[in-house]
Amino acid sequence: MEIVIRSTPDEVASTVADIVERSVRRGPTTLGLATGSSPLGSYRELIRRHHDDGLDFSSARVFLLDEYVGLPKSHEQSYFSVIRSEFVDRVNLDPGRVHGLDGQAPDLAAEAARYDAAIAAAGGIDVQLLGIGTDGHIGFNEPGSSLTSRTRIKTLTEQTRIDNARFFGSVDDVPLHVLTQGLGTIGEARHLVMVAVGAGKADAIAAAVEGPLTAICPASVLQLHRHATVVVDEAAAEWL
Ligand code: GLP
Repeated sequence: MEIVIRSTPDEVASTVADIVERSVRRGPTTLGLATGSSPLGSYRELIRRHHDDGLDFSSARVFLLDEYVGLPKSHEQSYFSVIRSEFVDRVNLDPGRVHGLDGQAPDLAAEAARYDAAIAAAGGIDVQLLGIGTDGHIGFNEPGSSLTSRTRIKTLTEQTRIDNARFFGSVDDVPLHVLTQGLGTIGEARHLVMVAVGAGKADAIAAAVEGPLTAICPASVLQLHRHATVVVDEAAAEWL
């Protein structure tokens, strides 16, 4: 595992954007994109490079990490809408090349299986961006998730619903269930890039990077990966 500690969140964003840019410039690439606040700076930097340097996303393809169950794609807090408004619609990426999980599918287990098959049919993910929850979750793989899990339905912990309540009116408005790529699914991406900034993530980063490999800290699964890069600012690196 490669750990990159940068001084500021802006430098973190620039390092992550460098990794994505290299992959995009190499040719048609498949990106795994995450929501949450952690990768937002990196998306802003990539949008800037698109406008200022002509970084061309037209041949890239995107798979999302996870989705809330019960929200229509058009809901402003669905991860499909969020990734469109924060990134896709601000670069030259056709929304038809963006694949997400359907949180309103009548058969959620079938939807999860379809998604894993779609990722495989696309040749897998080249670069997967990841945030990390304060409890060490990645995607929506909450503590206790099997390290080899596939895409499936999960129930959110109270802590994650509290953490995400800021995007909704109140905790009660945060959906209880989600669909998420599994830890095994995520681990099949060729390059995992985890991004975390701020002191609030310091415990989770220390557990993921230097703690034991355990389902209690799902992000520790990165320790098993052939090519994982963790990009953090000094605040998030405090306990390393
Ligand atoms: C949500 C997302 C995760 C994200 C996490 C942390 O739970 N499903 O992918 O990593 O939030 O979010 P933030 O980066 O806003 O702290």
